Amino acid sequence: MPPPPKPPSLAALKKSARTCRSCDLWRDATQTVFGEGPPDARMFFIGEQAGDKEDREGRPFVGPAGHLLDEVLAEVGIDRRDVYVTNVVKHFKFELRGKRRLHKRADAAQVAACLQWLDAELARVRPRYVVCLGSLAAKIVLGRGFKLMQERGRWIALDVGQWALATVHPSYVLRARSGSGGEDELRRFRRDLMKLRDPPE
Ligand code: URA
Repeated sequence: MPPPPKPPSLAALKKSARTCRSCDLWRDATQTVFGEGPPDARMFFIGEQAGDKEDREGRPFVGPAGHLLDEVLAEVGIDRRDVYVTNVVKHFKFELRGKRRLHKRADAAQVAACLQWLDAELARVRPRYVVCLGSLAAKIVLGRGFKLMQERGRWIALDVGQWALATVHPSYVLRARSGSGGEDELRRFRRDLMKLRDPPE
């Protein structure tokens, strides 16, 4: 039997995603925010959806949530440039309030329409470790019944030689930090990501 065809390169996927019309989010967004990182990355991070800054810059996790992620990854000893970072939803969805663009959550149909890109990124990179940031990514990778708050911070076998770990989204930590108890959330987030130091074989 001939070997299965190799999935398209990340550059080819990114180019195709630029003109994706599978849902309506492209209309108001500035651009598609595709994932980035080494094509052979061992670690693959999945966020929720592109935010305001990501929409303007065309890169994932470059706003406040991204800065927190970079900071904690550095504490863990991981260089962001060594990992692949992407989102479930690759367009920014927002509501205009005066001049402000307020983040809105993508609906189920928009998420479903966008999954083709995440699937293709996973198929191409074939990471050994998948890190889900937030409940949307966790439920997609680990199943709808996954309970983030009970099951966060543990390695879970996905497939032969592939593992996943879920934690909260860094935006959740940032929101908590603006109220009381925020430092605890940061500690928990850090503790979850410390598990990346010693992943399963
Ligand atoms: N939140 C996300 O989930 N992804 C980003 O890229 C930025 C903020």
